[in-house]
Parts: sequence; structure tokens; C-alpha cells
Amino acid sequence: GKGEHRHFMLKEIYEQPQVIGDTLNAFVQATTGRITLPDLPFDIAAIPRVTVVACGTAFYAGMVAKYWLEQVARVPVELDIASEFRYREAPMPEGGLALFISQSGETLDTLEALRYAKRQGQHILSVINVGESTIARESHAVLGTLAGPEIGVASTKAFTTQLTVLACFALAMARARGAITAEQEAAISAALREVPARAVDVLNHDERLRVLAHEVSEARDALYLGRGTSYPIALEGALKLKEISYIHAEGYAAGEMKHGPIALIDEDVPIIALAPNDALFEKTASNIMEAAARGGKVLLLSDAPGVERMRDKVRWTVTLPTVHPFVSPILYAIPMQLLAYHTAVIKGTDVDQPRNLAKSVTVE
Ligand code: F6R
Repeated sequence: GKGEHRHFMLKEIYEQPQVIGDTLNAFVQATTGRITLPDLPFDIAAIPRVTVVACGTAFYAGMVAKYWLEQVARVPVELDIASEFRYREAPMPEGGLALFISQSGETLDTLEALRYAKRQGQHILSVINVGESTIARESHAVLGTLAGPEIGVASTKAFTTQLTVLACFALAMARARGAITAEQEAAISAALREVPARAVDVLNHDERLRVLAHEVSEARDALYLGRGTSYPIALEGALKLKEISYIHAEGYAAGEMKHGPIALIDEDVPIIALAPNDALFEKTASNIMEAAARGGKVLLLSDAPGVERMRDKVRWTVTLPTVHPFVSPILYAIPMQLLAYHTAVIKGTDVDQPRNLAKSVTVE
């Protein structure tokens, strides 16, 4: 049941510290604290290219994984949504790895993309929440998310546990390929082990996000901006808002604003800017200032140094914990969920069963 929570979605948002921790524990060696994968039927050191395919929120998890795998494991990654990939007739390299991400394990387009990749001789690895599912069965190997049943149609804990598994996978691949130093590996795995505790800190901003949701609930349109791994989280934030509050929202790479979408900015379009204080912070900050200079009302999500730097330039701020940049997408996903949730509650929509949507999409 929903327990003390008003909706399944809120319950599932609050379960995240627990289920992220459970998922991590499946990969962390108890004695050494090292992140390891179960034995896989292929050699991850020898993969020439990874092709990541999924739909919707799972696709955004895959997009974060692309940044991680390229940056940390130094492996080329190709990424597409399943409904395009399955018909593209993309050539795939000999011995390549095709990675599918699905909460339900039953999404038909993802399944058909998997079958295509199999015919192309790829190793098939899937990140799946429902272990007894068609996609799990047809894969050569499965890495499970331990999110437990997700009832709310809008994916929340499945997403952050997908990110958790993909982070472990990227780190293991980086080590196998000799792409990172022992020191870098130790820093990232320490940061990952800290995520459940930091997720609790993020959930403490629930009330602040509920107050800010009143501003969003009055808008007809909203823009979400981010760079690097914050870009897929901006896309996910916009998707969450659209699907449960029915407010039109778009996610954009912050650097792409000036190539068109900046024309939309006025004081009626709130801008949700995701800017962890990482290597790209100054670049995102200058995009935020461009938007603010055109009358845009910006809600900045950053850590203490980032908020300090930008406080005078933006309308609202939320100060998230300071973490290793590698793990920030997992944590920044949570305020995206809470903002959409509270906006939908204020608007009185059916949060757990949004119109026109199904939990499992087994049609094309
Ligand atoms: C959005 C959402 C959908 C799913 C998508 C893929 O909140 O839940 O976008 O992520 O339909 O579903 P799975 O992961 O079951 O393949």
C-alpha cells in the first residue's frame, strides 16, 4: 500500500535512499568496498563499442550512462530510443555490446531493438527491474535494479536505481579497460557509497520544492536546462512535469539555448537550471545569466558554492549537497521528481495514473 504517503509516486520517491542502497550492495564487495560485476559471458575489456537503447525515462538513464562510459571507461557509445533504433538498420561492430534498459522488461520497441542487435551478433546486456520478464529472458546477461515494484506510472525509483547500476557498470568497465587510476576509482566508489545518505539530504528539500511548485503550477510552459550529465536530468525533469502535471515542458542542453529556444524566454516561463558545481559550472552559469537578462525567472539547483556564486542572478535557489560530480545526476533527479509531484498535486491531476499513459507499453 501507500503507507503514510498520499500517492504511490511520493512513497516511491521516498524509498530511493533504501533501494539505491540495496542496488549498490549487490555490486559492492563487502570486504574491500570495491565495485564488481557478476561474471558476464563476454569480456568488457574487449568491447569496441556500446550501443545503448531504451524508451522514455529509461532512455534518459542510458543518456547519463553514455556520458559516464565515454568519460570514465573511454569506450565509444552510441545511443538511441528504441522506436527509432529498431528500424534504422544500423550497422553494428563485430563483438559490440548492446545495452538495454527497461523497468518492466516488456517494452515492445526495446524488445524488438534487442532482437535486432542479437541478429547483428552483439552481446546483449540488460538493466531490468522485473527479473521475470521477456527482455531479461532474451538477454545474454542481466544487471538487476532492486527498486522493488514500481506502481506509480511516472518512473522514479526505477530511474535512480538504473543510474546506480549503470554507474557501477561504467566503473567496472573503466577498471577492466585500464582507463582510470586506482585513486580515481576509489574516489568514485566512495562517492557512490555515499549516495543513499546524500539522497536523504536531498529529500529534506521536499517542503521547499512544494512551495516552489506553486510558481511552476501557474506556468503554461517550463524550460529545464543542464550540461553534461545534468542535460539528461533536465530532459527527465521536463518529462516528469509533462506527464503528471500536463504543463508543457522542454529540456535543453544549456549551451543550445542561444540557437533557438532563448526566444521563448519571458517572465511567464520558469527556467529550472541544474548546475552542480562541476567542470561545466561556469558555462552553465553564463547561460543562466543570459536567460535572466531576458527576464527569465530562474530556479537554480546547485550546491553551496554554486548557489553562493549565483544567488543575485536568479529568482529561487535550492542548495543540494556537495558531491563528486560523477554521482550528481543520481541526486539531482530527486528534486525533478518532487517538483513535478507537488506541481501535479497543486493542479489536482491524477498523479499515479496520468491520462493516456500506461505503466508498461507493449504496443508499438
Ligand atoms: C516515464 C516512464 C516511461 C518509461 C518508458 C519505458 O516516467 O515511466 O517513459 O520509462 O515507457 O518503460 P520501461 O522502462 O518499462 O521499458
